[in-house]
Amino acid sequence: MTDNSYYLTTPIYYVNSVPHLGTAYTTIAADALARYRRMCGDDVLFLTGLDEHGQKVAQAAEQNGTSPQAWVDSVAPKFLETWTMLDISNDDFIRTTEERHVRGSQVFLQALKDNGDIYQGHYEGWYCVPDETFWTDDQLTEDRLCPTCGRQLEFIREDNWFFRLSAYQERLLEHYEQCERAGRPFIQPETRRNEVVSFVKGGLKDLSISRTAFAWGIPLPFDPEHVMYVWFDALLNYVTAVGYGADGTPGFSGPAAHYWPAQYHFVGKDIIRFHCVIWPAMLMAAGLPLPESVFAHGFLLTKGEKMSKSRGNVMAPADLVAKFGVDAYRYYFLRDVQFGADGSISMEGMIQRYNGDLANDWGNLCSRLFNMTEKYLGGHAPELPDAAAATDSDSTIHARAAGLPSAYAAAMDSLDYAGALEAAWDLIKDVNRYIESEAPWNLSKAGEDQRLSDVLATALEAVRIAALFTAPVMPETSAEVWRRLGLGSISEVRDLDAAASWGGLVPGAPVIKGDPLFPRIYDEEG
Ligand code: MSP
Repeated sequence: MTDNSYYLTTPIYYVNSVPHLGTAYTTIAADALARYRRMCGDDVLFLTGLDEHGQKVAQAAEQNGTSPQAWVDSVAPKFLETWTMLDISNDDFIRTTEERHVRGSQVFLQALKDNGDIYQGHYEGWYCVPDETFWTDDQLTEDRLCPTCGRQLEFIREDNWFFRLSAYQERLLEHYEQCERAGRPFIQPETRRNEVVSFVKGGLKDLSISRTAFAWGIPLPFDPEHVMYVWFDALLNYVTAVGYGADGTPGFSGPAAHYWPAQYHFVGKDIIRFHCVIWPAMLMAAGLPLPESVFAHGFLLTKGEKMSKSRGNVMAPADLVAKFGVDAYRYYFLRDVQFGADGSISMEGMIQRYNGDLANDWGNLCSRLFNMTEKYLGGHAPELPDAAAATDSDSTIHARAAGLPSAYAAAMDSLDYAGALEAAWDLIKDVNRYIESEAPWNLSKAGEDQRLSDVLATALEAVRIAALFTAPVMPETSAEVWRRLGLGSISEVRDLDAAASWGGLVPGAPVIKGDPLFPRIYDEEG
């Protein structure tokens, strides 16, 4: 593994339906982190993809009168289109029907069998098809519904293959504790950690890892009548994408092999047990290193309820992007919902954030400054004044800009996107106040040309820096701000601290006025 490799994953999404705000949420959050790490110079591998096997997908295909393969092939492009629309910068996209995944998964399972962790048994119990989850009698709700999604369950009786999950209980608990002591908790945030730890302490049962009731899955290498349990198959995407089993042997090979272990798996809180219990136990059984951390975010709620297809309250990302633009969309979810907690989203909230933070604070600041640069300075970036000439108000801006990299990094390192954006906004708001108090229009009237130039230079430089720190969340706008400032491509920044040090404005560079970055939205009803 190279020193600065940074491997980050989203869950792979079920292809029973098209992407919605919930699935887009995980992906946007991961994208912002991936972009940030690239700006810090890391060698990032950002992976997302599709979970294409299992009973639920087979049923969706059947309901649509088509074969599973034809169905997944028809849905996959819709995910790709959505990720393109949302400016998702994933480096790889894995589909579990791909040959690399099928082969790697079979190699993995064979390795576990050879190690003695897979055995044949009989399964009798409940199964939730929408969640693709097994449940025992004592886990059900009183009315015998799924404990997580509340839907009807199927009772299944099958001769299956089992994974000796129970053997890993103590090692898992030890691992959680060890990571805790080392200061890099395996399960984040803390509330989720407590939930998983008490679940594991409650006792782990062996896991049925094959199904015979349907055929849409990866055949077991040692018993092809069985297909792999879809979660077992899906979790393996994180290693098959980076070359596990690529050469037919248990291990990593190929150009992406150095990325394992991953730095982060991003997941929703509903799938934490799969990622924090089953997945690390599978890796332990295979003798592979474990990922550094799993971070579980909360649910997006609309009118107090989880947004989901079965509740019929899903909003399409494309509708919101059409109304607000892609950057405002990304901004809203990462600024208004605390990552890790549940968050209510609404059209009113989005309009408020848009008009307040984006149209007023950020967009308007850029417009005013670029306009004044054109009007008073002939459209060329001025020379930055000597630090010695700085007034108290100039120093406020310098200090805020100088403190931003560390404030921002501290927030991003704990995946506090809202806090990171707030830190950027502290600078943006200071510059707005600075412009008001320095009133360049009065300086112009009074013929104070040097001070006028110095004030605009200071403000433009602060805007240049602010654009750097809004870039992971709003890449298009930041690129445009840099373009209008006559600077190079912001997407090529690989040393954020150096790029953010005071003095990057290029004197004489053409500054372009341009259209408003975030035209105000008047339709308050949405
Ligand atoms: N296929 C599995 C994941 C396998 S990963 C090895 C799966 N897919 S999913 O499409 O149902 O959901 C993927 C992610 O979307 C989950 O992390 C889930 O939490 C997230 N969301 C789905 N609806 C959501 C909200 N309403 N709010 C936030 N995220 C939610 O599970």
